[in-house]
Amino acid sequence: RILILDYGSQVTQLIARRVREAGVYCEIHPGDVDPAFVAEQAAQGGLKGIILSGSHASAYAEDAFSVPANVFDVKVPVLGICYGMQSMAQQLGGEVSFSDHREFGYAEVRAHGHTRLLDGIEDFRTPEGHGMLKVWMSHGDKVTALPPGFKLMASTPSCPIAGMADEERGFYAVQFHPEVTHTLQGQALLTRFVREICGCEGDWNMPDYVSEAVARIREQVGDDEVILGLSGGVDSSVAAALIHKAIGDQLTCVFVDHGLLRLNEGEQVMATFADAMGVRIIHVDASEQFLGKLVGVEDPEAKRKIIGREFVEVFQAEAGKLKSARWLAQGTIYPDVIESAGGKTGKAVAIKSHHNVGGLPDTLNLKLLEPLRELFKDEVRKLGIALGLPPAMVYRHPFPGPGLGVRILGEVKKEYADLLRRADAIFIEELRGTVDTVSQQTWYDLTSQAFAVFLPVKSVGVMGDGRTYDYVVALRAVQTSDFMTADWAQLPYALLAKVSSRIINEVRGINRVVYDVSSKPPATIEWE
Ligand code: XMP
Repeated sequence: RILILDYGSQVTQLIARRVREAGVYCEIHPGDVDPAFVAEQAAQGGLKGIILSGSHASAYAEDAFSVPANVFDVKVPVLGICYGMQSMAQQLGGEVSFSDHREFGYAEVRAHGHTRLLDGIEDFRTPEGHGMLKVWMSHGDKVTALPPGFKLMASTPSCPIAGMADEERGFYAVQFHPEVTHTLQGQALLTRFVREICGCEGDWNMPDYVSEAVARIREQVGDDEVILGLSGGVDSSVAAALIHKAIGDQLTCVFVDHGLLRLNEGEQVMATFADAMGVRIIHVDASEQFLGKLVGVEDPEAKRKIIGREFVEVFQAEAGKLKSARWLAQGTIYPDVIESAGGKTGKAVAIKSHHNVGGLPDTLNLKLLEPLRELFKDEVRKLGIALGLPPAMVYRHPFPGPGLGVRILGEVKKEYADLLRRADAIFIEELRGTVDTVSQQTWYDLTSQAFAVFLPVKSVGVMGDGRTYDYVVALRAVQTSDFMTADWAQLPYALLAKVSSRIINEVRGINRVVYDVSSKPPATIEWE
């Protein structure tokens, strides 16, 4: 395995991602990890290499973290990135100079291809025949003198030492960021490091991961009982399947129906988990309780808070009945870990208060079991497939915790939810059933999230010989890679026409369908 030491760069998780894309297992640990841990990992023999991440800090600053000294003594290759390079230089006897001028963005770096790391890796050649790399740089400080034993590996006019190597000891460092996609050869460089220089096999895959994870869960919980809030979303579903595989009936899932789920969702969850897999599930129908609390409430944030609070209450009541439960399992995934860590700085403005099962209070006195904590979304999906979950469940669009509660504008009523559920199901059915002729994928797979929104306004229509005066439904479909920004999907007109006519004909109470053509920002994906 590869150990990644994190010095607080926002892109550290991308290093892990690239390493795993090379088929190599890796773990991220804090940059100031106990040297004893590094020594222990090395002694066990599984440690093949160490990567030092970038940081927002200056290697020169007094409170800078230093790399545990034994990282350079445990006789495995080390790759320093940005701050990791500066720390390496400083700790091994080179020089780093401080600058309050930050340079960041696209850069062209001259690659000195004589090292194993860069040999044959380049984007283009200059007329003089120098190999060049197109990279992404972000740094203020820079290395100004090579440590003894190192040679120059890369340079730019403003950063003469943009890469260095001591090949005898297996130490490499680059000032640019190979983990971001803007560095075109970044994947090639990281693959070269972990596979060829560290000698990892590149055979890490999901079935291996399943057996490792199952063993870890068994060891962690022993004979204890575990409860898990199953929402039907990808993350909690995969967590449930994995934990069930590990401990069977020691796991009990609680599935809360708040009355704001999609059409037939409860039945589907029960069919997949209880019937097909034999998972113990308590299905709580709390729809009346939730809808009761939402009467007269129009403000989106107030609705979210109520739904979140009721959810905690219902879940807690069920958990309280399972007296022997010692663990609370959650489908927390790696980006959630990063996001909530980032959230602690309080710098980001809260646009919406998202609610997840993650908000459960400590009063349950349960220990947390989060077996997906180190996985990215696409890895969670692969894990779900490896565990035998249906692809349609594993590849489904995300669904917000407050459900239809944020897709019915203003006050939530059962009548509205029932109309919306049926309209939404028609939209999704047509997206799943329509294949794009160019890509041969369905429009469901070509969109990242798609749903219907209920607008509690009435407009006039005509049906047969009669006048109608009914509600409006908006269709929303977006394409995005991270849900932070999104484009509205350019769905074919024929598809929109079919969805519109089916909704108006089949859902009595809706006589007008509109399509949302706003991107995020400035609009958000959900309407509330
Ligand atoms: P917005 O509307 O903020 O949504 O552009 C971005 C993504 O987050 C989802 N979302 C939520 N997910 N609890 C959740 O678990 C929530 O309260 C919540 N609100 C929005 C939204 O569906 C989209 O995928």
